[in-house]
Amino acid sequence: MTIEIRPANGSAFAREIIGAQLWRDLDAAEFEAIQAAWADAGVLVFRRQALSEAELVAFSARFGKPEVIHRTDWLSAEHPEIAFLSNLRDNDGNTIGRTGTDDLEWHTDQSYVQNPATGAVLYGVEIPNDGGGSTWWANMRMAYAALPAAIKSAIEGRRAIFDYTRRLAGYDKGSQKVTEEMRRKTPPITHAIVNTHPVTGAKALYLDPETTVGIEGMPQDEATDLLETLRTLATRPEFVYKHKWHVGDAVMWDNGVMLHRRDRYASTQRRFHKRTTIFLPADRHIVPRGRPYAA
Ligand code: SIN
Repeated sequence: MTIEIRPANGSAFAREIIGAQLWRDLDAAEFEAIQAAWADAGVLVFRRQALSEAELVAFSARFGKPEVIHRTDWLSAEHPEIAFLSNLRDNDGNTIGRTGTDDLEWHTDQSYVQNPATGAVLYGVEIPNDGGGSTWWANMRMAYAALPAAIKSAIEGRRAIFDYTRRLAGYDKGSQKVTEEMRRKTPPITHAIVNTHPVTGAKALYLDPETTVGIEGMPQDEATDLLETLRTLATRPEFVYKHKWHVGDAVMWDNGVMLHRRDRYASTQRRFHKRTTIFLPADRHIVPRGRPYAA
């Protein structure tokens, strides 16, 4: 099987892989082509796949160790490496996985942990048919390259403060409670705002507007303004790819160099995605390393 790599829907960075059958064990040449394309593009799209949970985990595991996330209430019972994102309910009427139909604002998965699993594969099982629920990605390497020199110099060597409490406040209209256990497991941490790619040397921003609460060692007002400026500059349309889902689409992305967000969809619609997260190799991808934050 020969695969072909093209811009995804005319995107400046996201790539669509044509001809890959992700349910099969990819041969070495296919795998290496996909691995190289991912490290370069940050977002890869595979249309109309048909994947069991075991196949989704096996495909993800080719790129690094799949993570079991701390939100056990989001996990597949059979394959805990898979989190459910859905507005559906099970036979007993209980919600399955991460719920909610509202917009999800720009964020980066796992940014509130010191060693985030930055790879992600999102597989569309049921998709709203009213055009809602699209997912968007913003390229932080392109965004960094286009920053004014004064902003580059303001953030050089700086570390932002990431707080899971701030993230949870944005979930489901603030209805999610922060338990003592969550706070103990995920205290505020810092990450470098600028990271350098281990292979190409290209710099990229590491942001999470849903989770960052400040910049270490910077007065709060100044930090809040700077983080907002970065969010605005980094999500300009020229750095963004929008994915309109079809059943069976799989999109993989690198949270070390991408922000993402989701459009709202009507609560009368059905939406069900399965997601893996993957610890990526630091010799091939930017892998942010956090440090405890001491206020
Ligand atoms: C996510 O934020 O990881 C999920 C995005 C989506 O539901 O499209």
